[in-house]
Amino acid sequence: MNFSILLFVLLLNGSILAQDAINATDIKINRQTQLVCVSDMCDFLLKFGAMEEKLKATESRLEDSETRLTNLENQVLELKNKERTKVVFSAAAGGNGQIGPYNANTVLIYRTVITNIGSAYSHFTGIFTAPVAGIYYFTFFYHAGGLETANLTLIKNNQVVVNAYDHKSLQDGADNGGNAVFLQLQEGDQVYMRLGAYSQVWGYNQRTTFSGLLVSQV
Ligand SMILES: *[C@@H]1O[C@H](CO)[C@@H](O)[C@H](O)[C@H]1NC(C)=O
Ligand SMILES: *[C@@H]1O[C@H](CO)[C@@H](O)[C@H](O)[C@H]1NC(C)=O
Repeated sequence: MNFSILLFVLLLNGSILAQDAINATDIKINRQTQLVCVSDMCDFLLKFGAMEEKLKATESRLEDSETRLTNLENQVLELKNKERTKVVFSAAAGGNGQIGPYNANTVLIYRTVITNIGSAYSHFTGIFTAPVAGIYYFTFFYHAGGLETANLTLIKNNQVVVNAYDHKSLQDGADNGGNAVFLQLQEGDQVYMRLGAYSQVWGYNQRTTFSGLLVSQV
């Protein structure tokens, strides 16, 4: 216990009691210049000062713990909200038969919605719009007559991401193909399937499909 603690006690709490109780004969200075009490009251006040100090330290640790607890609670809430965001869709091309060929690249609109949790896929435009930033998984399969080219490309905004392709062939009755990709998207990014110019797929019987899901938010 050093002199500053004693002073602390006197200044903060000591008031009249301390002034009355401690006088020059209460304390003496030993060889190491440490203050040593010679009266019970002085001893009590020194111990009281030490307790006060411990209490203040405990209070500050408690405040610290409360702050960390609040931060943790906020993080848990944030995680819960993220967990609650579900985005899953599957849609089939639909229609009566062959789709295409067209003489220009065309957005393939999958008109028959199978699943659309989160409503991020539009069966009017064929465009999926990411509702939140995150890692998404997309997959598409097609069935097509073999006499024409099949050329389907997954597009993010305006960029080509993955493609599935089959050459025109006279020997080949029909083709099945597809591809899949994990994509990191920002909120508002758009993903859709492009049917290449002069290519075609089969729409009827749910054979040509496009699916996606939010794997996790980032
Ligand atoms: C100082 O304290 C001692 C005992 O601790 C007491 O005998 C003495 O009267 C006190 N002196 C004054 C001036 O209060
Ligand atoms: C397939 O279609 C894309 C357009 O989406 C086009 O850029 C590409 O050249 C086509 N591939 C072939 C082999 O024709």
